[in-house]
Amino acid sequence: MKVLLIGANGQLGSDLCIALKKYDLTALTDKDIDIKDIDSVFQICHKHKPEIIINTAAYVRVDDCEDNVDLAFKVNALGARNVAVAAQQIEAAMVQLSTDYVFGADKNRTRPYTEFDSPAPISIYGESKLAGEAYVQHLCSKYFIVRTSALFGRAGSMGKGGNFVETIIKLAQEKDELRVVNDQVFSPTYAVDLANAIMDLIDTRFYGVFHITNKGICSWYEFSQEIIKLTGFGTRITPISTMEYPQKAERPRYSVLENYQLRLLGMDDMREWKLALKDYMEKRHITAER
Ligand SMILES: NC(=O)c1ccc[n+]([C@@H]2O[C@H](COP(=O)([O-])OP(=O)(O)OC[C@H]3O[C@@H](n4cnc5c(N)ncnc54)[C@H](OP(=O)(O)O)[C@@H]3O)[C@@H](O)[C@H]2O)c1
Repeated sequence: MKVLLIGANGQLGSDLCIALKKYDLTALTDKDIDIKDIDSVFQICHKHKPEIIINTAAYVRVDDCEDNVDLAFKVNALGARNVAVAAQQIEAAMVQLSTDYVFGADKNRTRPYTEFDSPAPISIYGESKLAGEAYVQHLCSKYFIVRTSALFGRAGSMGKGGNFVETIIKLAQEKDELRVVNDQVFSPTYAVDLANAIMDLIDTRFYGVFHITNKGICSWYEFSQEIIKLTGFGTRITPISTMEYPQKAERPRYSVLENYQLRLLGMDDMREWKLALKDYMEKRHITAER
């Protein structure tokens, strides 16, 4: 099967390159394609004629999106539209990556969101990604929209300059105490596990919206506690509230996604985030020793 991957040197894209090895894979970075440019998208898609196009490319800097609204919508909404139109023209299926940040307006939420809940974002990033989802749903007949959350992968997020795990490890090496937000709850997700789940999904014709995250939930504080535990550092971590750590973009207090569609299809074999984190840390250690 011919697969075209967009965003190949990103955090998820890098792990997808490994997971998709068995396919006839064309992996494109931002040097090869600009999804904002409809002509470049059409030209490349028509040239390669893949059966599947996976779009991981996005403007992922959540706070910067608040200041650069046009760019956020150009990349996350119109970029997704451009890929969807091209996919439809060449009769390819499309995988569009999306986010738990399409939710968040329900401040009292304490129950995981399924794919059948109505999104209601509270940030420009969330709004622009939701607009991208809408374009894909309307313009491409064979689509998998994959929502995930709090990714950690070997490459680290290109757009964010790393991932949360690496940020905490770096800060723990520099400071004796860290203050981390304890009132935003979600499911951390290992990019390798997500890449493998996407690989399984594209072998099916189960088109639609999918939530794919590792199992279990935590706050950023609990996530950082587990990271520090695995490093063996003695860094103290103090839980703080979102009010004590103001950021430009509002974040959901609760954005846990349930892998409901995968479960209904008997395909939900995502493991607990703590097991995935342990695996990440072990692999990271091996890489550092080399
Ligand atoms: N990271 C998370 O925690 C998280 C959580 C939920 C959902 N997601 C979604 O998961 C997907 C992958 O995230 P990630 O962490 O892998 O992000 P990433 O590391 O920033 O990768 C995105 C890639 O897209 C490229 N890109 C940006 N604008 C582009 C454009 N106009 N044309 C072509 N390529 C472009 C980036 O290149 P440059 O950096 O060089 O521009 C980068 O290589 C995204 O759709 C994101 O919205 C991520």
